[in-house]
Amino acid sequence: MVNKIHVSAIVNGEPVEFLCEPQQSLLECLRDILGLTGTKNGCNDGNCGACSVLLDGRLVNSCLVLGVEAQGRRITTIEGLADWPGLHPIQQSFVEQDGLQCGYCTPGMIIAAKALLDREPNPSEQRIREWMAGNLCRCTGYDKIVRAIRAAAERLYPAEVGRKE
Ligand code: FES
Ligand code: FES
Repeated sequence: MVNKIHVSAIVNGEPVEFLCEPQQSLLECLRDILGLTGTKNGCNDGNCGACSVLLDGRLVNSCLVLGVEAQGRRITTIEGLADWPGLHPIQQSFVEQDGLQCGYCTPGMIIAAKALLDREPNPSEQRIREWMAGNLCRCTGYDKIVRAIRAAAERLYPAEVGRKE
């Protein structure tokens, strides 16, 4: 029998406690223990970005983080963006710009975009492409995703984005 480890963390602003096995990934803990299935398992080896979450505000692939590493940390998943009246501005922009088809990559894309826009309110198209290079989409095409992130920046930071460089 594997001894389980007790973990306390803040997930989407709420304190949570769970028991996990030492080798379980944060992705497994979020999906299988906490029921937060918005975070997707694409490759389970750090290549696709579908499992992106924020760990203390930093973008990580949750399939590469152990659940026990969440001890005492703050985690934001796609469910954590639901505190807006209606869709989060990044979600709204993905919808309007057709930045998704099957939607499997979309939670990871939106979390990665949030990580960028939290740091850089007015990223260039080139910067968005570089930042999003770790998030793969097999359906939509990246132009629409980049357009959606630019549109989200305009929504979130109209003063910054309207400013001349
Ligand atoms: S599932 Fe984690 S990077 Fe693909
Ligand atoms: S919308 Fe289907 S994988 Fe990206």
